[in-house]
Amino acid sequence: MSHRIQFTAPGGPEVLQWVQADLPAPGPGEVRLRHTAIGVNYIDIYHRSGAYPVPLPAVPGFEAAGVVEALGPGVTGLAVGQRVAYVNGPTGAYSEARNHPADRLVPLPAGLSDEVAAALLFKGLTAHMLVRRVWRAGAGPWVLVHAAAGGVGLMLTRWLAREGGRVIGVVGSEEKATAVRAEGAEAVLVVPRGAAYDQVPTEVRRITGGRGVGTVFDSIGCDTFDASLGSLAPFGLLASFGRSSGPLPMVDPAELAKRGSLALQRPSIFHHIADPAALRAAAAEVFAAQAQGIIRAHIHGTLPLREAGRAHALLESRATRGALVLLP
Ligand SMILES: NC(=O)c1ccc[n+]([C@@H]2O[C@H](COP(=O)([O-])OP(=O)(O)OC[C@H]3O[C@@H](n4cnc5c(N)ncnc54)[C@H](OP(=O)(O)O)[C@@H]3O)[C@@H](O)[C@H]2O)c1
Repeated sequence: MSHRIQFTAPGGPEVLQWVQADLPAPGPGEVRLRHTAIGVNYIDIYHRSGAYPVPLPAVPGFEAAGVVEALGPGVTGLAVGQRVAYVNGPTGAYSEARNHPADRLVPLPAGLSDEVAAALLFKGLTAHMLVRRVWRAGAGPWVLVHAAAGGVGLMLTRWLAREGGRVIGVVGSEEKATAVRAEGAEAVLVVPRGAAYDQVPTEVRRITGGRGVGTVFDSIGCDTFDASLGSLAPFGLLASFGRSSGPLPMVDPAELAKRGSLALQRPSIFHHIADPAALRAAAAEVFAAQAQGIIRAHIHGTLPLREAGRAHALLESRATRGALVLLP
């Protein structure tokens, strides 16, 4: 018997229930993991709210660190007692223990704590994808990063700045602005909760000498879409990688032409790490970047796993700086 968080219908944080469940022996190609730290990610909210429908009843969560407790038939290259982490596969990370596909596991380096791993891996891999595969450094050094003080945002800001990006961050409070400057942003625009983003393009053009930025990294979606397009230089790229404020409006490609031959991309981490070898290579780069200070995992706070609903409410309220981690 072990405990987990489950929901039987989509809804607000209150649908997340603490339940007891049997855990069968791991099947072929699986291992049983005892979780030690669970990463909270915005995609968990999309699943819970029904924005991204999942089969019900569902256990949310795509990211955790833990210890291998048992190997299923055919599993090689892992040992009982080994510390590992994962970032996708079936949902179900909000649990004390679970079975998980062995080929989706990443061994943890000795110097990295489980809590830091659970704050680092998903968000760091996302930053890695955005910096290495999406960013058009050739379109000019200026970049705009929305939600720059978020779990992904702080790592993305620091990594871009370390690679020569001149980052303009957008955040919801002065306190968050300070955190983003500390990661290397050259300028930070504060758009408080409830305010519109319509002044962002004007401010971006003032900062960039009238030209605009080469790339916008936008994880907010609905509320920021227009301001993001309006902030781009000709031939610039809008990398739309999330929708915390709601789905994007439909866009006519002619609008992209009219605004300066712009490009629109919707990158997903799941394609970036679909191949197990690519996952392990990207994870190794993320661990190395953390060890070298190129990125820093920020833990806003930890909460007991059974208070997952409180964690969701905190993340949705825009109160967090960095990552939330649940402890089983
Ligand atoms: N495409 C991918 O593969 C991929 C992978 C991982 C994550 N993501 C996306 O990256 C984004 C960041 O994820 P995260 O887990 O690190 O979350 P997060 O950035 O820590 O939290 C969301 C932040 O977005 C800002 N925000 C602005 N308007 C908001 C609204 N209406 N509702 C909620 N938040 C709002 C808030 O910052 P301010 O108060 O400073 O505005 C808030 O703190 C999410 O959109 C997620 O879906 C995408």
